[in-house]
Amino acid sequence: MPKTKKNYEVIVIGGGAMGLSTAYHLGKKKTDTLVLEQFRFINQMGSSAGVSRQFRIPYPESYMVQFVLDSEPYWDELQSHTPVKLLDKVGTLWFGDPSVKSTEGNISQAEKALQQLNVPYTSLTSKEIEEQYHFKNLPETYTGLFQADGASIDLRATLQTLYDLNSKSPYVTMKEECPVIGVKQHKDTFEITTPEGTFISEKLVIVPGPYIDSVINQLNFTIRATYWNMTSAYFKKLDPKIQYPTWFVFQNAVGSNGNQFYGFPSVDWNHPEYIRVAPDFVIQPLTNPNQRTLVPNPQELAYTAQWVKDHMTGLDPTPHYTSTCLIALSDVPTKELIIDFAPNYVPNHQDIVLYATGWAAKFVPFLGKILTDLTLDGKTPYDIKHFQLGHKYFKSL
Ligand code: BEZ
Repeated sequence: MPKTKKNYEVIVIGGGAMGLSTAYHLGKKKTDTLVLEQFRFINQMGSSAGVSRQFRIPYPESYMVQFVLDSEPYWDELQSHTPVKLLDKVGTLWFGDPSVKSTEGNISQAEKALQQLNVPYTSLTSKEIEEQYHFKNLPETYTGLFQADGASIDLRATLQTLYDLNSKSPYVTMKEECPVIGVKQHKDTFEITTPEGTFISEKLVIVPGPYIDSVINQLNFTIRATYWNMTSAYFKKLDPKIQYPTWFVFQNAVGSNGNQFYGFPSVDWNHPEYIRVAPDFVIQPLTNPNQRTLVPNPQELAYTAQWVKDHMTGLDPTPHYTSTCLIALSDVPTKELIIDFAPNYVPNHQDIVLYATGWAAKFVPFLGKILTDLTLDGKTPYDIKHFQLGHKYFKSL
């Protein structure tokens, strides 16, 4: 029997969307890469759970708008490898109270950022949103913007395409049910212990989503993050012809609860008779990912069903096919994504590249490229300075 190979140039810890994308880009650079996934590949346990995500260009910061624009060629490149449509371009509709600032941003600031970068969009009044997009009973003060390049991401097909490309690559090895139980540093190498044995590499990419602490604690640091066990549900279409864009509603919180919701069109890749609508808040954030359950919060579901009943047309407001998705969010205000090296008090920190926290499905093919640049070249031509606040994101243990 051939001996299991032990030595790699790069070990990628975490085999979700970011890990698979990074391995794909490393493989394209002929880098001998091992991906370690603690569960099975394409699972429901972390931030790559579910089947759809939003691709949207509006952000309140122009650097984020630019970051999405920069991601587009990488989506096109990934799309060239599969006949399955990865982005269903139904457009992005942002609407609601223009003064509300949410975790996703703010409508007025997003309009300015789009203008700065000459991204076309249409401004809408409350009446126009109701007439053109099937919403109802919206306050007259609500405004909106529609940006036609927004899309519903077929997340499962994205993961499958990356997984298949990696399976075919002579440079990428993928191991599932292979949690990292030990990380040791030697002079120029890392020694990663798993139930399947010990593996050695020159570089590490750490991308296990909300499980990041289980890896970085072994390197004696921790992340400042909070964890959301996000709820989602599907609502049956009463009118089979009705179609929504991807949308997000910005509203002030009612009492201490959130009041932001988002939704998708019906898609042929999942429950095509239904539309997905979800709350963009949790009633109880978690301090540790181990506190998560796979049970959606009934109150969050009830608020969502009520919003569907009050403000959407053509849907039965009974939630079906409910699910959860676990995500880590940085405690550093307004800075969603962390794309960086390990903090400099970690030995060999320049050989340890991390992506953590925030909503990044829209960047999957692009972040794989950036993490590969950082791993192989120590730098990337893309502007990631906003995601590199070093010590602020992490604490040493
Ligand atoms: C996003 O586009 O980043 C997003 C959309 C809905 C919920 C959470 C995040």
